[in-house]
Amino acid sequence: MTILIKNANEVITLKSVAQGPRIKEQMRDIAIVPHGSVLIEKNRIVAIGTIAQLEVDYPDLIKEAEVIDATGKVVMPGLVDCHTHLVHGGTREQEFNMRLNGATYMDIMNGGGGIHATTKQTREASFDELYVKTLRHLDVFLKHGITTIEAKSGYGLDWENEKKQLEVAKKLQATHAIDIVSTFMGAHAVPHDYKGREDEFVDMLVGDMLPKVAELGLAEFNDVFCEKGVFTPEQARRILEAGKALALTPKIHADEIEPYKGAELASEVGAISAEHLLVASDEGIQKMAATGTIAVLLPGTAFFLRAPYARGRLMIDEGVPVAISTDFNPGSSPTMSLPFIMNLACMHMSMTLEEVLTATTINAAYALNRGDQIGSLEAGKQADVIMLDVANYKQLQYFYGMNHTHTVIKNGQVVVK
Ligand code: NIG
Ligand code: FE
Repeated sequence: MTILIKNANEVITLKSVAQGPRIKEQMRDIAIVPHGSVLIEKNRIVAIGTIAQLEVDYPDLIKEAEVIDATGKVVMPGLVDCHTHLVHGGTREQEFNMRLNGATYMDIMNGGGGIHATTKQTREASFDELYVKTLRHLDVFLKHGITTIEAKSGYGLDWENEKKQLEVAKKLQATHAIDIVSTFMGAHAVPHDYKGREDEFVDMLVGDMLPKVAELGLAEFNDVFCEKGVFTPEQARRILEAGKALALTPKIHADEIEPYKGAELASEVGAISAEHLLVASDEGIQKMAATGTIAVLLPGTAFFLRAPYARGRLMIDEGVPVAISTDFNPGSSPTMSLPFIMNLACMHMSMTLEEVLTATTINAAYALNRGDQIGSLEAGKQADVIMLDVANYKQLQYFYGMNHTHTVIKNGQVVVK
């Protein structure tokens, strides 16, 4: 199938001469083609330019193309949500109410709620129940313009249920339009039956679960919740190094609630990204800049936990490549709206309109090791393209709290219109 998206007010291409995740002022260079058109053949982007140019260069393709009129609208790459806890049982609105009444997130978790509550609900859910629930969530993400999403396990905390979560993601990858990238996060919490025997749980992750995940090809990344009272930096290092030896790329939940030198650890183990970083230290930020470790910032979590926001502005100024994501999960960020999260990044982390576009497209794609395939509109890249019902990209955040997604093209197919 050939598609011509014709005459958008702005085509935001995110094309750059820079290779790799964008840093500093590169994050502001979103490479707009005014009055632009995009030509797509099968699942690839053929060219971007004015219609007059494309008609000269590709007369035959243009003749057979299905035309989508983008007059008055903005066209850009599909959004990449690079940090979610997508597959899980149940909801936790009662804990939200407890927090509104003064309880803290860690109090609730230490009292057997939090991640433990969702673990119970995820263990109780059948494969089919999880599949149907997650499918509905994916439909909502797609309507918000997300065309690729990361999915972490970590609510099974035993092999049977971690495998179930990862297999649900795998089946959805085969059946749903959104591309799903899997991360193993068996080190999300220490389950109750290992209480007081935390190192034995780590032994089991390293000696048993990680090799099985790698052997079955169930994940590309390996993530750890490095936090006081959860996994120490030493335990996190062990788990991440063990994953590395099995070709599972390290990611880390770092410095989310208390400073714990998680950013430093991410840089030291060569993690592709450190995520959260609400209370990352100056030194950690500098180390990440030096190693090019991507900061995946999740301002929805700061919003929903009423915690301090990560120092996104400082990180960009220091040269850390920044990506932004929803952190969709039932406890600290139950939203499927990446556009809302982008607004929080502008308002509370002083990121510019251009920086948040980079952070949710090409930099997020690099955080999933897919920067060469998605995240920008360039000839040869996968045709993941969205059309937004706004006159220019600045209106995306100006008309806040709304979903402006009009049309979604995934892999060259119109999937939302
Ligand atoms: O990214 N911090 C750990 N994990 C999630 C929250 C998980 C939950 O509360 O269920 C997060 O914030
Ligand atoms: Fe998370």
